[in-house]
Amino acid sequence: MPKFDPTSPHQMENPYPVYATARAEQPVFFSPELQMWLVTRYEDICTVVKDPATFSSLGAASVGSGFPPEVLAVLAEGVPITPSLVDNDPPSHTRFRNLVNKALAPRQVAALESRVRQAAQELVESFVREGHADLITRFATPFPGWVIADILGLPREDMPELKRLGDAMVGLLGSAHEPLERQLEYARGMVQLTKYLLARVRERAAEPRDDLLSLIVTGRNERDSALSDSELVSMLSQLLNAGHETTTNLIGNSLVLLLDRPEQLRALREDPGLIPQAVEESLRMDAPVQGLFRTTTREVELSGVKLPAGARLHVLYASGNHDASVFPHPERFDLHRPNSDAHLAFSRGIHFCVGAPLARQEGRIALEVLLRRLPNLRYQDGLRPVRRPHFFVRGYEHLPLAWDVG
Ligand code: HEM
Repeated sequence: MPKFDPTSPHQMENPYPVYATARAEQPVFFSPELQMWLVTRYEDICTVVKDPATFSSLGAASVGSGFPPEVLAVLAEGVPITPSLVDNDPPSHTRFRNLVNKALAPRQVAALESRVRQAAQELVESFVREGHADLITRFATPFPGWVIADILGLPREDMPELKRLGDAMVGLLGSAHEPLERQLEYARGMVQLTKYLLARVRERAAEPRDDLLSLIVTGRNERDSALSDSELVSMLSQLLNAGHETTTNLIGNSLVLLLDRPEQLRALREDPGLIPQAVEESLRMDAPVQGLFRTTTREVELSGVKLPAGARLHVLYASGNHDASVFPHPERFDLHRPNSDAHLAFSRGIHFCVGAPLARQEGRIALEVLLRRLPNLRYQDGLRPVRRPHFFVRGYEHLPLAWDVG
């Protein structure tokens, strides 16, 4: 059985050899460390995500059970979190999804192009003359924050705090083994976030504006099943969290992939038309979300392995993206790979990332603006990127880079 420990520094540095061993030797296996079944082959991953009746998303991001009474008491002060998008199944999932689908559809996103570009340019102009910067803290973190703030209609200044509170909410999910004080801190952050979002929902209900938040709040009664305030808050917190660090990591990961391959970086500078392809190939090579979760609703067989009902699955999108039966020479970063966009970094099926068109646009614009404004972009002397240690989110905490100042 492959030794699978996503918290070990060795695997965190480079998980792809472990995935490759699993795909070759035991593509579906049980990890005693995680108490979950790992799904590693492209085809099996597609089978799982396209069958939500057998592989449920309920509880995939569950908060509120299994915590000590002190934590539950804090959580009770906030808005109750209910299943909405990533942690929901049809038919309930469909109510939420319909509400956001239209607002984030490719045509709506295309209309945002100049605003998104302006945000990227404004950020780069704030540090370009310094000749060096940590691109994660100065650019890749604030950029998607500004974009999501602009779209939802929240003040950009609120985003650093909302990011902190969102991180607390995500932190709480994986905090079962952390000290009580840490869990309480996360719970307080989450309560603060839900209260903030509830206040904005009520504001927009009283006085709608020209923003996505108003569209969501006023659109909630349009279909047969209306959404309550707490359902809206649950969905909005997912939109905020899902749309932020994922995109930060896409930008960071793609920069590192390119900086480690100077000839590819040169090719991109010479032909910026290749940038959308670079974004897809980066998503394939080093997916910001390595995998997510499902639970079986019945006994089912996958790659010859019998899974009992109620089995928890960790579906490794990042492993599917390195499956040689779909992507020949998967460890090669290839700007001319004909099927890079067949990657699973945004999943498939009904939970296919609703923010994918926006993430792709942000990734493309980030690379366009950075490569144009930061000539001779390179690692700062002797400094290497620093990984953010996380079990299924893959990205960098710091990326100290330098460039020529004319
Ligand atoms: C590179 C950036 C991104 C990556 C890698 C990413 C990845 C993913 C993945 C893998 C899923 C599937 C969840 C599942 O399998 O259960 C997902 C769903 C989702 N994403 Fe993204 N995402 C990104 C950017 C965004 C952005 C910018 C937004 C919002 C503006 C967003 C909002 C969502 C939401 C709300 C869902 C849940 C959809 C549903 O369950 O119906 N994501 N994302």
